[in-house]
Amino acid sequence: MSLQIVIMAAGKGTRMKSQLPKVLHRLAGRSLVQHVLHTAGRLAARHTIVVTGHGADTVESAIAGPGLAFVRQMPQLGTGHAVQQVVPQLGDEGTVLILNGDVPLVAEATARALAEACAGERLALLTIELPDPTGYGRIVREPGTRRVLGIVEHKDATPEQRAIREVYTGMMAAPAAWLKRSVMALKNDNAQREYYLTDIVAMAVADGVPVVASPAASETEVLGVNSPAQLADLERRYQRAQAEALMEAGVRLADPARFDVRGTLSCGTDVEIDIGCVFEGTVHLADGARVGPHCVLRDARIGAGAVIHPFTHIEGATVGAGALVGPYARLRPGAELGEEVHIGNFVEVKNSTLAKGAKANHLAYLGDATVGERVNYGAGSITANYDGANKHRTTIGNDVHVGSNCVLVAPVTLGDGATIGGGSTISKDAPAGQLTVARARQVTLAGWTRPQKQKK
Ligand code: UD1
Ligand code: MG
Repeated sequence: MSLQIVIMAAGKGTRMKSQLPKVLHRLAGRSLVQHVLHTAGRLAARHTIVVTGHGADTVESAIAGPGLAFVRQMPQLGTGHAVQQVVPQLGDEGTVLILNGDVPLVAEATARALAEACAGERLALLTIELPDPTGYGRIVREPGTRRVLGIVEHKDATPEQRAIREVYTGMMAAPAAWLKRSVMALKNDNAQREYYLTDIVAMAVADGVPVVASPAASETEVLGVNSPAQLADLERRYQRAQAEALMEAGVRLADPARFDVRGTLSCGTDVEIDIGCVFEGTVHLADGARVGPHCVLRDARIGAGAVIHPFTHIEGATVGAGALVGPYARLRPGAELGEEVHIGNFVEVKNSTLAKGAKANHLAYLGDATVGERVNYGAGSITANYDGANKHRTTIGNDVHVGSNCVLVAPVTLGDGATIGGGSTISKDAPAGQLTVARARQVTLAGWTRPQKQKK
């Protein structure tokens, strides 16, 4: 089947009350129109054309990619006018599927079924029955035969027509050559002085093109976003669906209503996730991993049985099996924790590997470091990895003990089994197996007395 896709994204989105074009507002971490493009991308269309208008430059630069064409609609005179702009780009063969840039959650199967219902021969409308159809175009059917006769917009509808609960969702699939002819014949003699795409339904009836109404599988997939409240509502529906799919697979969520995935989360068995966590990018939690409340994990792999304690922030990092991280820890890109590593409160790790059993439990910084097995890295110690111009590495061997409040001035190497006395500033390599201390010697001044307040 030859398929062409048109995504309408020129509208202003006045009710968002935002500088950002409506279709660029984010749902689950991705812009509304990116959701639609993602779905469109799975349908193997010959090409996909996005109609831009309001904020066109911003929208186009945000979503530009291979196989995507843009057509501008200036000014925006209605949905029919939007499709008119695309006509010169459309081939005459097969089916044109029209999607909306602000209806993000339409399912791939639904879009595919709509295109198949058209099959290059029929006008297929995606419809749904709503308890409150206010604002939507109503599907008008012939009494008795129930044949679709047309769509009447809410503002143009009679009180009887407004009682119809079957509505047009804004998505349709039409035979290409016929669509091109029909949209060019649209008029704007209606309540809004707009060129309504929906008027082509009556034209199809007149032309003898069969019209089919294809019902949507769920309300969520056809809901559009017009306001911040609708965006938030759709976000919660989307998150709920993700939460349910994970729970179905055995993941234990403390509260599916306080859970957000803005990307892809995959989990092994017996994974537990407490409240208020946010997962971004691609995150994997292996068997038995536990994530405490209010953690943010972005592009991370958490090993089997690892525990992420509350308020921990992990980005671009891997955590080994059985490791303990947090509370209040921060793993930045390139942090690779081996098995059974312990990272405690207010510890920051960046671009560093920690081998099995290494521990940094309190108030510390490890940047650009290679840390051996069983290392104990004391409270308040840091790697001074940046000289103001370049970054340098710190290498810490196996079984090293770094006391509290040390500064390791990179590049520097601590040999296996080295011990570094607390409060040391280490700017030269420390030999294996020995104690190295680099701080002023402690003195006690005999006979010293505290100053007294002078009497006047
Ligand atoms: C449209 C339908 C209505 C349907 C409803 C579903 C028409 C005339 N009406 O109404 O039957 O029930 O969607 O949500 O089609 N757009 C442009 N250029 C324009 C106008 C709109 O690109 O000149 C885009 C918008 O950005 C949006 C989409 O088309 O993505 C729908 O436009 P909107 O103004 O929301 O149409 P509705 O009045 O909601
Ligand atoms: Mg709308």
